[in-house]
Amino acid sequence: MLSLGARIQPHNFLPPAKPRNIQMKIMSVVGARPNFMKVAPLIMAIREHNGSNAPETIQHILVHTGQHYDQLMSEAFFTDLNLPRPDVHLGIGSGSHAKQTAEAMREFEAVLLTEKPDVLVVVGDVNSTLAAALVAAKISFDNAGKRPIIAHVEAGLRSFDRDMPEEVNRILTDHISDLLFVTEESGLRNLANEGISSAKIHLVGNTMIDSLLAWKKKAEASTILEELGLRRTVNDSRFGPRVEPYALLTLHRPANVDNREVFRNILEGIEDLSRDCAVVFPAHPRTRKRIQEFGIGGYFAGDPGTYEAATPGVIRMIDPQGYLNFLCLMKHARVVVTDSGGIQEETTCLRVPCVTIRENTERPVTLKYGTNVLAGLQAAGIRAAIQKQMTRVFDNEAPQYWDGRASPRILEVLLSNCERKSQCASY
Ligand code: UD1
Repeated sequence: MLSLGARIQPHNFLPPAKPRNIQMKIMSVVGARPNFMKVAPLIMAIREHNGSNAPETIQHILVHTGQHYDQLMSEAFFTDLNLPRPDVHLGIGSGSHAKQTAEAMREFEAVLLTEKPDVLVVVGDVNSTLAAALVAAKISFDNAGKRPIIAHVEAGLRSFDRDMPEEVNRILTDHISDLLFVTEESGLRNLANEGISSAKIHLVGNTMIDSLLAWKKKAEASTILEELGLRRTVNDSRFGPRVEPYALLTLHRPANVDNREVFRNILEGIEDLSRDCAVVFPAHPRTRKRIQEFGIGGYFAGDPGTYEAATPGVIRMIDPQGYLNFLCLMKHARVVVTDSGGIQEETTCLRVPCVTIRENTERPVTLKYGTNVLAGLQAAGIRAAIQKQMTRVFDNEAPQYWDGRASPRILEVLLSNCERKSQCASY
């Protein structure tokens, strides 16, 4: 008779297996373009972990809400960043904020209940981020309140402008997360001021910068500059290929492009720059729609998709670019003019001057390093900011922990927290 607790070992004549029996299940959610480069290095860190001798293995599940769905807004990034195919695609698409968030929540709930991960990782501040976190915060896997640990990557950033949908998403996501991974010191202060326990908060660096550092060299092989006629293909025997001076422009924020007068004002602020050098403008689909709607195509040249030479004084509109092409374009630009959040950080890391067409930023470290300035939305301010930044050369250090190792740091915290928490199904 077997004693209590004894087990029949059918293969007990074999040497004992390595004790890799603990498995943690992490689910990451992506939805929109700026999410992909923040999750990719985390998946890489998980692969590395599983290839090591660590006692626990990690199962990773990637969920794509489908908030962004165009080939150039989504698929291209999976190829460039070597991301695995999503395990689940929710296909939510476009819509009002309420509809998009609600659709994502409804579809995601079923996935969460089926997969029951130990940890849910959400990144950044898009509608998909909040939707997934909100579902996880209220779910119960066992009718006793068991739910995944919610980890927010890029927590604590604040623009203090609640008219920005992203600011609402950030605040709400932070307040329902269990682990908050912060990219810069201002995040620590903001979360402390909002009364969030310091035990939940970890300054780990920036996973988007992990991606940038990992892919910077490969981005050099991009041929986008040749395609745009900005890098001479024939090598000058002494100096090598020469890159023509050019500026890189991105604009997509509703506050900047959804109102005709505001949009026109911004374009007037950029007009001088486009007389001085080529201005390359990979246009977001919503921005392109507005340009047609507002009848302001005269500021632009080049049908998106064709890289024809443009006359001075007009902005050169091209299709949205994949990750590697865009990285190459940022790296060689004389100045980057943008209303994006992430680009402010990427230019700080690349030491490229940046002019941000906004009144505020949730990323003050970029201002502290001087690579970024806020220009506001008025033409005069934009002109002055561009002039100031065009002449500047940067040799700054990277902000603390922007060293390409944020993702392994995050993983370490996830593993140690999962070990301690009873929520983690497999521990
Ligand atoms: C979203 C994020 C924003 C981020 C931006 C990056 C929120 C609240 N906003 O804004 O923080 O900076 O992504 O791009 O989540 N569209 C397409 N194809 C696509 C995706 C969008 O044509 O693949 C068009 C649709 O007309 C859509 C519009 O773009 O209505 C806006 O897309 P949406 O995801 O709602 O917001 P973004 O402006 O892209």
